[in-house]
Amino acid sequence: MSSTACQTTWLITGASRGIGFELTRQLLESPSNLVIAACRTPEKATALSALKSSAKGTLHIVKLQVDDFASIRALPTAIAPILGEGGLDYLINNAGILKEDTPLTLDPEVLLETLRTNTVGPALVTQVAVPFLEKGGAKKVLNISSTLGSIASAETFGKGTVTSYSISKAALNMLTYKLKQERPDLIAITLCPGWVKTDMGTQAAQLEPAESIAGILKVITCATAADSGKYLSHSGAEIPW
Ligand SMILES: NC(=O)c1ccc[n+]([C@@H]2O[C@H](COP(=O)([O-])OP(=O)(O)OC[C@H]3O[C@@H](n4cnc5c(N)ncnc54)[C@H](OP(=O)(O)O)[C@@H]3O)[C@@H](O)[C@H]2O)c1
Repeated sequence: MSSTACQTTWLITGASRGIGFELTRQLLESPSNLVIAACRTPEKATALSALKSSAKGTLHIVKLQVDDFASIRALPTAIAPILGEGGLDYLINNAGILKEDTPLTLDPEVLLETLRTNTVGPALVTQVAVPFLEKGGAKKVLNISSTLGSIASAETFGKGTVTSYSISKAALNMLTYKLKQERPDLIAITLCPGWVKTDMGTQAAQLEPAESIAGILKVITCATAADSGKYLSHSGAEIPW
């Protein structure tokens, strides 16, 4: 029997800080969770490593740079021995970047870098994770998107701001919907965590990480097949596309 057989297994990208770190921290409060926390420089992820001493659950840290396709293709070799025969229950594509720009000032290289990190990386991470998800029980993919990717909500935000980021998250939303269509055996959700106090969200944000992440975990653990393909907020409300 695999050592993971009695635990719910999670793979989280961008776990070194911010939302990915808080997801990992909260999940490790329960002995029933095994978290594979992926980050691009584990040797610098000191806060993440420090969770090992207080964790009730099981923490494994793996190296993963989501804008580096070779790094993503090496992921199965790193996680297979951790997961054993038990498979993966939850994949959370969380790592992301944001740079300020507008349609007429954007640097094409920044747009490509943002798409590579926020959209293409999650697509490839999902591809390599699917064989593990197929063996898992929950079979859930959570893509951390943003309301900034909602065309229906665009008037709520400043004109043209964070254009590359918004494009990348709108594309991530479509990727999620396409995954739901292709794989009805999986539950795929695209979700906005709210405006959260992190390096990206800044201290001006409305939500403490703990509040946002508690909501996110409730939404994804409670999600059923009927929810697959939905664009949700951290409180579970549907966001207009
Ligand atoms: N905070 C908000 O208000 C807010 C709102 C809506 C959506 N979101 C989304 O929530 C997610 C997490 O955001 P956050 O607020 O936690 O941001 P953050 O504080 O800036 O943290 C970003 C995380 O992503 C990782 N990362 C960035 N590029 C990476 C790469 N190429 N490979 C691997 N890891 C990479 C960072 O790792 P390093 O430490 O190595 O840099 C870090 O762990 C993002 O997808 C973001 O778009 C955030």
